[in-house]
Amino acid sequence: MSEHQEERSYDEYRVIEDLGGWRRTHHNNELNANNIGNTVTLMGWVQFRRDHGGLIFIDLRDREGLTQVVFSPEHNTDAHERAHALRTEYVVAVRGQVRERPEGMSNSALVTGEIEVVVDEWKLLNTSETPPFPIEDRVEAGENLRLKHRFLDLRRPALANNFIMRHKAAQAVRRFLDDNGFLEIETPILTKSTPEGARDFLVPSRVNNGDFYALPQSPQLFKQMLMVSGMERYFQICKCFRDEDLRADRQPEFTQIDVEMSFADEEMVQGIAEDMVRNVFKKTLDAELPAEFPRMTYAEAVRDYGLDKPDVRFDLKHQEVTDIFKGGGFKVFAASELVKVMRVPGGAELTRKEIDEYTKYVEIYGSKGLAWIKVKEDGEWQSPIVKFFSEDEKAALAERTGCQPGDILFFQAGQADIANTALGYLRIKVGERLGLIDDSVFAPLWITDFPLLEWDADDKRWVARHHPFTSAQPGQLGTVRENPGEALARAYDLVINGYEVGGGSIRIHTPEQQDAMFSALGIDEEEAREKFGFLMDALKFGAPPHGGIAFGLDRLIMIMCGAKSIRDVIAFPKTQKATCLMTEAPSEVGNKQLRELGIKLREKKEEKKES
Ligand code: AMO
Ligand code: AMP
Repeated sequence: MSEHQEERSYDEYRVIEDLGGWRRTHHNNELNANNIGNTVTLMGWVQFRRDHGGLIFIDLRDREGLTQVVFSPEHNTDAHERAHALRTEYVVAVRGQVRERPEGMSNSALVTGEIEVVVDEWKLLNTSETPPFPIEDRVEAGENLRLKHRFLDLRRPALANNFIMRHKAAQAVRRFLDDNGFLEIETPILTKSTPEGARDFLVPSRVNNGDFYALPQSPQLFKQMLMVSGMERYFQICKCFRDEDLRADRQPEFTQIDVEMSFADEEMVQGIAEDMVRNVFKKTLDAELPAEFPRMTYAEAVRDYGLDKPDVRFDLKHQEVTDIFKGGGFKVFAASELVKVMRVPGGAELTRKEIDEYTKYVEIYGSKGLAWIKVKEDGEWQSPIVKFFSEDEKAALAERTGCQPGDILFFQAGQADIANTALGYLRIKVGERLGLIDDSVFAPLWITDFPLLEWDADDKRWVARHHPFTSAQPGQLGTVRENPGEALARAYDLVINGYEVGGGSIRIHTPEQQDAMFSALGIDEEEAREKFGFLMDALKFGAPPHGGIAFGLDRLIMIMCGAKSIRDVIAFPKTQKATCLMTEAPSEVGNKQLRELGIKLREKKEEKKES
């Protein structure tokens, strides 16, 4: 009999019923040998149906798990007969008895694997079309198809579980902060631009034609206002919006756990932050983080790992060798601002093809090449570049790196920031390739002593590295004026497993300091008034010393779930191109709506498409 004929022949059974007062007694992860003999009512979706010599089995799925359900003609002929009509993703309610699975049929992979429920009666609550991809944890469908049908993808237990975890973590955060005297206060979404370094999303105003709101990149200025208001301890789990290039750990709208406290210094903010993170990992995952998080300065992180968010679960530290090659025979190294080497024990096993891939990979970070030396078993150096090295250079390199047969050395030379970043990300790639990273470990780390300012080469001016309300370290105001690149900030980041999960600072709280900062940034009085007038006003009225931090909740959950993409922990995420495939946002709007907003598009969509 063809599938089609079979479908039609059971149409008479596809009558949708309502709940009729039935109530679920258990979730589908709850029943076990202790429940044998109980009468239970379960509800959920048909994950899978099999016909087996007179018996019909379904795996019934709900948010929490799966339970095997059996329709037996001996037990109830009518219930069994009607079950022929069941198909994948139909919604049912079943009532029956819990019994032990027959000898040899139990499934230890499933928490309910010892039992099954044999059905007395059941209701068809809804039918379903055949889903565009099977709803199971083994994912074969492409991500775009799954994002278009996100409501189905979220039925997958592994994905659903991420949201259970996210919920638990958010509850743990709320409980912890409440216990520590923090007030949850909401701040506006329709607001004014906040300087977190990304582009703003703008919202045109109808009432004030020609004016725009900006969506907040963070509630930074509002939380500082709340400190001036005397709220003392504030938090919010809030959406932030940043129009920036997307990556695996970045979304245009994401969620922060935003925290601010008055009468606080670095030690207090970091203390609360550490306790909160430890508490969340304990309550959500039953994982113990270190009693004290290790600390590293920004300068040490960049020196040893090339990045300000090092993954310290594995070694492969960098070494600087600029001095060895300065003015020497290998021109690429001789004239470079920075030459760094990374010694990879056992790395000689990497193939030419892999090295070529890494060479392409470091180009993403602006690198112009990837020099390398393999130390062969007989101690000989195999490399396209050693022929340019003098004997002294070779000896100095061998001594500094301590390289051994079986190692590979990777080099980056050039502008310091490019060489650091490129070798920093290569370190992670190589660490993954050689299996050096233990995924069961969580390695939190504070990065401290960030530079206050950084040079913006495009705009040719100093900009705040964190944001312009961050305080310089004590006694650094002179440095800010005379040697801006050297000034250090009272800023800190929390890094876990190579991801920046949080960042904050002690703020400027006097008008004098804020003026000095604006002038170091080349923001004149008029611009400062226009952009941050309310902050400057507020600082004149007794602002308490204050500081805070914001955590990327999505990133935190991603790490806790072991997810590879931030999209797996956001219910309705955007694609790399910042679109939502399910709702098809962003989308065109009608002329009437545009007219009301006083907006005329400069180019039509067709023209844009052609260019
Ligand atoms: P910052 O800009 O460092 O600080 O942001 C805080 C944390 O938010 C997360 N994050 C993101 N997560 C996902 N997608 C994004 N596009 C994204 N951008 C940032 C990161 C980051 O550590 N107002 C300051 C905080 C303060 O000073 O208190 C701020 O927003 O995990
Ligand atoms: P070239 O002389 O440009 O052919 O480079 C010789 C070797 O040095 C090649 O293996 C390049 O990949 C490598 N190389 C070139 N530029 C750099 C750089 N900036 N940093 C590290 N290695 C480089």
